[in-house]
Amino acid sequence: MNNNIYLQGNYAPVRNEISEPRLKVTGNIPKDLSGLFLRNGPNPLSVLNEETHHWFMGQGMLHGIRLDSGNALWYKNKSVDGNQSVANTSVISHAGKIYAIVEAGSYPVEIDEELNSLETKPFYGNKNEGFTAHPKLDPRTGELHAMCYDYANKFDTIDYVVIDKNGSHKKTQTIPFESRSMLHECAITENYVLVLDLSVTFSLEKLGSGYFPFSWNDEHQSRIGLLDRNDESKDVKWFEIDRTYFFHTFNAYEDHNGNVVVSAAAYDRLFDKDWNGPFTESPPNLTRWVLDLKSGNAQSSKLDERSVEFPRIHPNFITRSNQFGYALASSNTQQPDFKEIIKYDFVNDSSEVYQYGPGNFGAEPVFVAADGGTGEDEGYLLSLVYNHETDKSDLIILNAQEPSSGPMATVHLPQRVPFGFHGDWISI
Ligand SMILES: [Fe+2]
Repeated sequence: MNNNIYLQGNYAPVRNEISEPRLKVTGNIPKDLSGLFLRNGPNPLSVLNEETHHWFMGQGMLHGIRLDSGNALWYKNKSVDGNQSVANTSVISHAGKIYAIVEAGSYPVEIDEELNSLETKPFYGNKNEGFTAHPKLDPRTGELHAMCYDYANKFDTIDYVVIDKNGSHKKTQTIPFESRSMLHECAITENYVLVLDLSVTFSLEKLGSGYFPFSWNDEHQSRIGLLDRNDESKDVKWFEIDRTYFFHTFNAYEDHNGNVVVSAAAYDRLFDKDWNGPFTESPPNLTRWVLDLKSGNAQSSKLDERSVEFPRIHPNFITRSNQFGYALASSNTQQPDFKEIIKYDFVNDSSEVYQYGPGNFGAEPVFVAADGGTGEDEGYLLSLVYNHETDKSDLIILNAQEPSSGPMATVHLPQRVPFGFHGDWISI
């Protein structure tokens, strides 16, 4: 037994790739959920050095559950194996194709609906390029917006990439970026893309000693940049904020005063003393910044003392003022503590909780709109749940309008799905 928690329990890799058509279901799967629920995360089958192993390292493994007209057709898991890429962080579907994706220069891997990796190259443009784990799809235009970094090859710049609704490369805008901050995500509003230049930066020293090469950096002032989406001649407008780091935003939008509002699950400190993962130094809290374009100042407010990660919203509300957000409870304990889903109502300043129950630990809650639904929370939350006692996982489906009432359906899987990172629902 090693001491690295990210190699133990449900962080540990699974050894078997299986395909199971006979799935036990409790409750009733909504008939309008026809498609594929896909999850991605690292599955480090061979670890050279357990001491330096970081949660973010390891070849990606996909886990898929195929639903159709109220039935669970199958569960499969397969390693991502294409395009010389670990592709271990997330999945997207765009312009009729599905990709496993990751940041920091590694390439997206196209996969088919049976989770097989394909050797499709390039992803966009004329040559294979690294991408990001968190592109943002603008629901108004169908365009995919991404902030991409590859500090091994582009030491002082990042690329703002736009891919059009047909999957074709629209533009790449290179931006000076000397901090080499860990640019895990971006956010978009109607007119801007947000550049998140935060206080975790590339560390050559860590890289040299085999560790995950990013570190908390007190010397680096955190700042959020606004880049005009439509005018490349304009420089990034920067707003300094208290030192922080966040992997994930809930959303960003422009308010009626023209200010940019962005909320995220923000850490006061991480990757400082703990070089193996994010959770032990400070818990991430729902925090909101208002960027005042007239004064150039940013105001921040912590909106909840509870600790949350992996936020999701209704995808049609990206760039728009949103009432609801969903996130997975987190904590700053040594052991995983993903014990509940919190649904936030930002308009009424309230929240509702679904508790997974004793011995159960959840994952990112993915919002899927109901067919024909018009309300912002009219739909479902899909979340994997790991049970410590059975050492297996379930897929639960909650009514997003009342998650505290418990699962409408539970699909029991034949093995556990490691905590992993992100997933998505692909309508088929
Ligand atoms: Fe992420």
